Amino acid sequence: MKARKLAVFGNPVSHSRSPEIHDAFARQAGIDVSYDRILAPEDGFDSAVRQFVESGGIGFNVTLPFKEQAYRLVSSCSAEAETANAVNTVTVNNEGLRGDNTDGGGLVKDLSTNLDWPLAGQRVLVLGAGGAVRGVLGALLQAEPARVDLYNRTQSRAEHLVNHFQDSRLQVCKVLRESYDLIVNGTSAGLKGESIQLPSAVVGSRTRSYDMIYGPRVTPFNAWCREQGCAAVADGLGMLVEQAALSFFIWFGFNADTAPVILALRNSINETDV
Ligand code: ATR
Repeated sequence: MKARKLAVFGNPVSHSRSPEIHDAFARQAGIDVSYDRILAPEDGFDSAVRQFVESGGIGFNVTLPFKEQAYRLVSSCSAEAETANAVNTVTVNNEGLRGDNTDGGGLVKDLSTNLDWPLAGQRVLVLGAGGAVRGVLGALLQAEPARVDLYNRTQSRAEHLVNHFQDSRLQVCKVLRESYDLIVNGTSAGLKGESIQLPSAVVGSRTRSYDMIYGPRVTPFNAWCREQGCAAVADGLGMLVEQAALSFFIWFGFNADTAPVILALRNSINETDV
């Protein structure tokens, strides 16, 4: 049987670790897959997808900056994709393209299963109001936190998201003056080598910090939280693998064992940091 054809579309995409993650899952499942990176032009996403489907593609992931375009392109989508207005997983079937969004599920799985950090009843601060945050708020709210305060440098974008979600537990935070059980950093500041200006009062001795970006070293935001005396930090590598596992399940109905894949990826990231 021919290898099942998968891919990730992005721009840029050369940095994507998705091929090695899905290859590892495929080995576990005993399924022959070929998973490529496809660099689509910013204005050429739809035609790149069409070409991929015509060449036999059975599913694909979507990363920046195409998640909203993918949402518009698919003919049907899951509740998670609908809530996020963004799609990171597409399945090609007889009816057309079906969109899912596994980013939020991946974050919650990493928090609750891998890290064993509770969400139910917790006071959560989410930083940022871009696509990354929009993609995970629905899943965070489903995990029954007591409250999710949304804080963004540009307040109007946070207001926009709060209006979109219409959930009484989700509020715009205008002034940061108390500490939280969990802080989730969904801004892109760390990716650009910038730091976020926050009062130290948001971090208490029981605060846990989750930064959705990851890298070979502790992220700048997590380093700052540690300096303020937080209880624990984690970066987004676990979320990356968990969202991939949820995609793999959608395509093949196979529950991958993520722990060895997270470990291998962590080691490979550290090795390439020379
Ligand atoms: P993404 O799709 O990755 O979320 P985005 O839509 O550009 O990207 O959103 C980036 C988020 O990071 C925004 O919330 C942005 O804040 P603004 O809305 O005020 O631009 C936030 N961000 C980026 N750099 C930041 C910085 N140096 N300090 C604070 N927030 C920052």
